[in-house]
Amino acid sequence: MVIQSAEFISSSTHPASCPGSRFFEYAFIGRSNVGKSRLINALCHRKNLAITSSTPGKTRFINHFLINKSWYLVDLPGYGYARTSKHNRKILSERIKQYLVQRRQLILTFVLIDIRIIPQVIDITFLKWMHTKNLPFIIVFTKADALKSKKLNSQIGNYQNTLAEIWEPIPQSIVSSSISKVGLDDILDVISNLNHQFKCVNG
Ligand code: GTP
Ligand code: MG
Repeated sequence: MVIQSAEFISSSTHPASCPGSRFFEYAFIGRSNVGKSRLINALCHRKNLAITSSTPGKTRFINHFLINKSWYLVDLPGYGYARTSKHNRKILSERIKQYLVQRRQLILTFVLIDIRIIPQVIDITFLKWMHTKNLPFIIVFTKADALKSKKLNSQIGNYQNTLAEIWEPIPQSIVSSSISKVGLDDILDVISNLNHQFKCVNG
C-alpha cells in the first residue's frame, strides 16, 4: 500500500469524543518515547504529521489521522511516562484502555517496543492485558537502526524467549526503524490485508 494522503482529523480526550465515522482504524501504542510519533510520520512520509519530540509524554490525546481517505491511523498516549503525577498517569492509562476495549472500529493495535533495551515489565504487563481482553495486536520493535546486526539479533532472540515463556505460539512481531525505514512496508502490508479482509467480511 502506498500512502497518498494523510490528514490530521482530531485529538480526543475520551473514546466517546473520537470521530463518529465508521472507517476501520489501527492504533499505535507503546511506552512513552518508544518512537510512535516518528514511526507514524515515517509511514506517512511526513515530517510533522504526528508530533515528534525529545520530550517524553508529548502525546496526551487519542489522535486520529485519516489515511488515503479510507482508514484511520491512531496515535495513542504513551503509557508509563514517569515524569507526570501518579494521578495523571492513571487517568491516561484508563483513557487508553477504555478506547482499546470500546472502540468497535479498531481492527488491530501495533504495540511498539524499543529493541535497544531488555524486556520491560510495563510492556509485558500491557501485552498480557491486551491478551486477557482478547484484543488483537502485533509487536513492532522500534529503533532497529541503533543496533549493529549481531546485537539486534540477540536482542530480538532475548525478547522472543521472554514472550515464549508466556505465549505459545509467540505473538507476531515486526522489526522496524523510522530512520532506515526497515519494517515500514511490512506494517502497511498488514493494514492493507486486514482492510481488504474486513471489507470482504462486511460486504
Ligand atoms: P511520546 O509521544 O512522548 O509518547 O513519544 P513517542 O513514542 O511518540 O516517541 P517519538 O517518536 O517522539 O520519539 C522519541 C525519541 O526517539 C526521539 O528523540 C526520536 O528521534 C527517537 N526515535 C524515534 N524513532 C527512532 C528510530 O527509528 N531510530 C532512532 N535511532 N531513534 C528514533
Ligand atoms: Mg508521540
